[in-house]
Amino acid sequence: MPEVRKEYRVAKDTPVSISEIKDGIYRISGFVKEFGITFNQFLIDDEKPTLIHTGPIGMYERIEEKVKEVMPLDKLSYVAFLHFESDEWGGMDFLKSPGVKLLCSDLSSKLNLVGWNGVPVDHISFWDNETLKTGRRTLRFLMTPHVHHWDSMMVFEDTTKSLFPSDLFIQPGENRPVASDDLSESMIKLYRGAGIFASENPVRQTAKRLAKLGPEMVFPMHGPCIEKGVFPKYVDALMKNEFAYSGVLLGQKLEAG
Ligand SMILES: [Fe+2]
Ligand SMILES: [Fe+2]
Repeated sequence: MPEVRKEYRVAKDTPVSISEIKDGIYRISGFVKEFGITFNQFLIDDEKPTLIHTGPIGMYERIEEKVKEVMPLDKLSYVAFLHFESDEWGGMDFLKSPGVKLLCSDLSSKLNLVGWNGVPVDHISFWDNETLKTGRRTLRFLMTPHVHHWDSMMVFEDTTKSLFPSDLFIQPGENRPVASDDLSESMIKLYRGAGIFASENPVRQTAKRLAKLGPEMVFPMHGPCIEKGVFPKYVDALMKNEFAYSGVLLGQKLEAG
């Protein structure tokens, strides 16, 4: 008999910490032992402050507390979710803050936001390479279809050359906020075990495009931030290794393959 769950997948008491990674860009992170990964949200403090990912709903209260350590919630202008999944935007309560607007990709808008009951319709959607000025920072939206999901999008902040690639370049474990060592082998292992990419091709095309942008810092949604010097190793690992879905989903073999 399948299990009936009555509680959130990510526990409410998950400890969450905050660290400033770079000039007003904060990483708000909680390690969830059950899954062996961190869930990271990023707050860009600017004239129009932006939160990238809301985190899973179970972690909402603790993430909200950390945002409030930097600014009152009613200062928040934008919440960006980079694909339609519960860890990227389960914490929709952030949208209750007065004046906050939801940002997403054009596909997230067309496929999900304007078509579901109970999902807030009011949002701003972006086509590939469109930008949004938030004050001294400029967010560039990159559509990255089939890099995990059909509606996947990434954000590149032009002035600091910060890349927010969502579930690309992620690593397992409870790590320090920024890593300068090469953890790409564990990234590849994680992808093989989780089965989040249907095929290598769209991922490799995107990785090449991202490498050309020359990010100074990469802010993945799971694992530590990646420094510029070691980033090429992650791109190389995606070019040289197989990591697409091969019948294993979240560590469990699907007999039908
Ligand atoms: Fe995801
Ligand atoms: Fe994620």
